[in-house]
Amino acid sequence: MESLLIKGGVPLHGDVTISGAKNAVLPIMAATLLTGEPCVIRNVPKLSDVKFMGQILTWLGAKVEIEGNTVRVHAKKIRGMGDYDLVRKMRGSICIMGPLLGRLKKATVSLPGGCVIGARPINLHLKGFEALGAKIKIENGYVEASAKRLVGADLFLGGRAGSTVLGTANVMMAATLAEGVTVIESAACEPEVVDVANFLNAMGAKISGAGSPTITITGVKALHGAEHEVIPDRIEAATYAIAAAATNGEVTLRGARADHLHAVLDKLQSAGVKMVRSAAGLTFSRGGKFKPLDITTLPYPGFPTDVQAQMMALMILTPGISIITERIFESRFMHVSELTRLGADIEIEGPSAIVKGGKPLSGAPVMASDLRASAALVIAGLAAKGTTQVNRIYHLDRGYETMDAKLRKLGARIERIEES
Ligand code: EPU
Repeated sequence: MESLLIKGGVPLHGDVTISGAKNAVLPIMAATLLTGEPCVIRNVPKLSDVKFMGQILTWLGAKVEIEGNTVRVHAKKIRGMGDYDLVRKMRGSICIMGPLLGRLKKATVSLPGGCVIGARPINLHLKGFEALGAKIKIENGYVEASAKRLVGADLFLGGRAGSTVLGTANVMMAATLAEGVTVIESAACEPEVVDVANFLNAMGAKISGAGSPTITITGVKALHGAEHEVIPDRIEAATYAIAAAATNGEVTLRGARADHLHAVLDKLQSAGVKMVRSAAGLTFSRGGKFKPLDITTLPYPGFPTDVQAQMMALMILTPGISIITERIFESRFMHVSELTRLGADIEIEGPSAIVKGGKPLSGAPVMASDLRASAALVIAGLAAKGTTQVNRIYHLDRGYETMDAKLRKLGARIERIEES
């Protein structure tokens, strides 16, 4: 297994190009199953999750070519069953279910388990499929959805934590080929859902309202091949913006979209981080004294759970008490004990982390537990004195394109080594 060795204390300086959004490209790749014609997806980040999704599509019978940042998928003839081992490796692969159900009227996928950040149920996905007329059967660890025909319906997809991102994408994809009109209420408003809808519309779907809590889908008989360029990854952008501030550096994010980052930019500004917009991109630096924050994660346009851990890394450097409340996933504080190993003072009280910031950080070996926790450990390691070894970085490779190389280009002293 590989680790990252970071010699901290170097301010990051320079430009970094933001890659395509992981959480958009995965459902977009799944959406190619809706047509027998070839599709081309551009600005695809080079991630292990993208490779996994490619393997799943191949297993289903599609021809998949990944070349640089372009993916070509031709799902001429496919079968409706997702292999257990492949689907189990990546929870995001549940989004093959909607396209399979839409095209074949039958989908069997292994039930994804929970993961380190929480239980991760799929009850809302299944509720949506049932509303479209599918029968759901759960047996031997597999979930099977089948229907003679899918018929458009009005449905409410809100759950205990609000909307569901992949649930919305899944039901929207199935509904593109249903008969009649589907209206999804309490739909997720994330930019990734809008990107999926834009791709589906390019394939000939009739979707309106994506980006709002009400999405209307008028079913069509068939979809055709299309080309699409994936939106930039707002979570990657937020991660580099925070890393720039945390190291007292100055970094320009090329290609980042401020309009996808309102909640993050608002909090960064309150924390004392300076942002300048220019033709080159968004430039972040420390604006003055850091100030503590009170943050609650919420569905979009609220503060994203996927930036909670990285923001905590900034808050441990900020004198005063910050409170970070996690409302989306119940156990997404795995980074706390590892940040504590670097010298941070953090207490967990129910869904909140109370950060007593400003204590000196010093390097230590730490263990990455999930993708965003890993990013937080990297940021803290970049800001800490001495050497930090972040172990189990395969999590990072799932969702950040060549993070170590991008950071090295910004001046960080970071290298990839075999875990000792
Ligand atoms: N939920 C239910 N029932 C469902 C589905 C979700 O109760 O059927 C609950 C979840 O337990 C959670 C909340 O609803 O409390 C939101 O979950 P959501 O369904 O929105 O999550 P997701 O679609 O499975 C995507 C991203 C995650 C990101 C979340 C929230 C992908 C591949 N994954 O997951 O990304 O944290 O939305 O924004 O799009 C990451 O990139 O590190 C990551 C975990």
